[in-house]
Amino acid sequence: MVGPEKGVWERADLAPDAVCIDCGGKAVVPGFVDPHTHAVFAGTREGELAMKLRGATYLDILSSGGGILRTVRETRPLDVLSLTRELERHLDIMMAYGTTCAEVKSGYGLTTESELDLLKAVRASNHPVERVATFMGPHAVPPEYSGRSEDFLELMTSLLPTIKEQGLADFADIFCEKGVFTPEQSRRFLTAAKDAGLGTKIHSDEIENLGGTVLGAGLGAKSADHLLVSGEKDLLALEASGTVPVLLPATLLTLFEEKIPPVKRMLELGLPIALATDLNPNCMCHSMQFVMALACYRLRMTPHQVLAASTVNAAKAIGLDHRKGRLAPGFDADLLVLKEGSFDHVVYQMGTNHVDTVIIGGRCQLSGVRH
Ligand code: NIG
Ligand code: FE
Repeated sequence: MVGPEKGVWERADLAPDAVCIDCGGKAVVPGFVDPHTHAVFAGTREGELAMKLRGATYLDILSSGGGILRTVRETRPLDVLSLTRELERHLDIMMAYGTTCAEVKSGYGLTTESELDLLKAVRASNHPVERVATFMGPHAVPPEYSGRSEDFLELMTSLLPTIKEQGLADFADIFCEKGVFTPEQSRRFLTAAKDAGLGTKIHSDEIENLGGTVLGAGLGAKSADHLLVSGEKDLLALEASGTVPVLLPATLLTLFEEKIPPVKRMLELGLPIALATDLNPNCMCHSMQFVMALACYRLRMTPHQVLAASTVNAAKAIGLDHRKGRLAPGFDADLLVLKEGSFDHVVYQMGTNHVDTVIIGGRCQLSGVRH
């Protein structure tokens, strides 16, 4: 329930085990929603940092069998239980930094069995952070399908009805990028996903603008993510379709990318910008607070815009805006007590944890969090 303190202990609808948490002097905000993560994977890729510092680009590393493909090699041998444990480890850190709901994509299996196992792990993980699962089989073309991306895409497309029937995913996503999947392939895959009854998302305009954003918007995708090199027609397409632009400022850092997405224009158009960590082995960022600071200092978003982008808009990007992202009657009681009296501190003081208490579904999960 949400309402005045007076008379609250006398209310007939008060839960019998209700406890009083004194938040005197501390700000209370909705739990952070992280609407774009690849949080189910094995291994790490810290070695690529040196390659990037020597000038290798993301696509250079990928085309030489590293990047996503390296993580695929490390992820494939794991069974559902081990994948579940890996995911839970990440969810623990995310929750300590205030994330109470997260989207998690598959995409490091790239075989029928392994992709289904990744999705099963998202569903099976026993964790207070609520998960939305996204099937991202078309994340990269695995080496055994080298030069045969059509055949691989066909295989991934053929899994969509089973994934829907078994309730393994809520959304389907594809990496529409030069050297990965073309807009035409993306159109076919996302159309099949829609036909199977799944929601859709697209990774678009991250490195090259191939038209993926216009395509996603035209298909009624729930979100289009990255959008670094989006132009006016892409933004107008998002405005017309209500597709949520999801920005990933930590990814820009990890790519040593100095450009920024067209945030100013997005805000002028009133687009509901959402922020996300993009947690993956290339962008090892669990903290929405870190992303929020980057959004302010690099993308020039105000603390107010940043808070909306990490709660109500982020919930919209995963289709949960009817019950997540707001402190309001009828919404899930996912909330954070901060250490300070105003949210502005979260973006202002970088690199420390401003969350004191995490409450998910009305239950206190963590309290007195230290830095
Ligand atoms: O969103 N761009 C594609 N996928 C991820 C990166 C995955 C990886 O490098 O392992 C992203 O940034
Ligand atoms: Fe991503």
